Amino acid sequence: TWTMGNIIDDQVAAIREQVGEKEVICALSGGVDSAVAAALVHKAVGDQLTCVFVDHGLLRAGEAEQVEQDYVAATGIKLKVVDAADRFLGALAGVTDPEEKRKIIGREFIRVFEVAAREVAAAGDVEFLVQGTLYPDVVESGGGTGTANIKSHHNVGGLPDDLRFSLVEPLRTLFKDEVRQLGLSLGLPEAMVWRHPFPGPGLAIRIIGAVSSDRLELLRAADLIAREELTAAGLDRSVWQFPVVLLADVRSVGVQGDGRTYGHPIVLRPVSSEDAMTADWSRLPYDVIARISTRITNEVPEVNRVVLDVTSKPPGTIEWE
Ligand code: XMP
Repeated sequence: TWTMGNIIDDQVAAIREQVGEKEVICALSGGVDSAVAAALVHKAVGDQLTCVFVDHGLLRAGEAEQVEQDYVAATGIKLKVVDAADRFLGALAGVTDPEEKRKIIGREFIRVFEVAAREVAAAGDVEFLVQGTLYPDVVESGGGTGTANIKSHHNVGGLPDDLRFSLVEPLRTLFKDEVRQLGLSLGLPEAMVWRHPFPGPGLAIRIIGAVSSDRLELLRAADLIAREELTAAGLDRSVWQFPVVLLADVRSVGVQGDGRTYGHPIVLRPVSSEDAMTADWSRLPYDVIARISTRITNEVPEVNRVVLDVTSKPPGTIEWE
């Protein structure tokens, strides 16, 4: 019969067979797929695997720590962390166009990963790159095995020719729910296994306007409140994603304490979906929305208004950029 134990045993054997004595590298994003793929490869070949986590400074509160501390503690994986926040912020300074933001982030990611990959490669005989490709990705792309490129989460092309790796894709036959079960069986932190999808460009495309560290800090605080209240209400698994968006270039008048305020709106964008191709706005209970709104306006300076996005996809996309 087909159990998680079998899948793990089969994959471990297949990975050992493929990799032999060579070294393996993996880029962790904080997402479920790369985390489970790397954990599986680590189980198979141990310290022949080096993971690289490029912290672009655009993750949500606690997410970098989740990778650097909880994940490493759970797996024992060898992790190289590159703190590239300043570099990404510098490259993004003053940029407001959504596609321009994506291009910059994709480009910088490849540059930073390339340097890290060269350092890892200099220390050993690296021949393989792990990718968390799932079955639906395989079907969508026509089924062929790829040559090395950092696909998907940054929407960018590949690495230079002299850094061409063969791919290890241990999740190629699995669906998302199976990957989650696998992650739990491998002992990964629940918060990581059940993490909602999160875009590669991160919070940069949830700040409508230019990205800055102040704006990121503000959005992180609001986003954390929304996530905390959703979790407290037991609703994590009934929404597909819950983007929280900062309208950084919009101001509106409010009143707080004994004064007039002129602050920024935060948009709540909870959606229900099967595959992100279409989506509907989630009918969250009003008391949950009310708690989020009260807490955000009380606890996040400069936010004096919280609004709810009630648009389906289409015509709206899930993200605002
Ligand atoms: P939209 O906004 O197009 O999003 O309805 C559909 C799904 O894709 C995610 N998304 C991205 N993921 N890089 C990513 O890795 C991106 O540039 C990007 N843009 C959108 C979005 O969060 C949703 O799950």
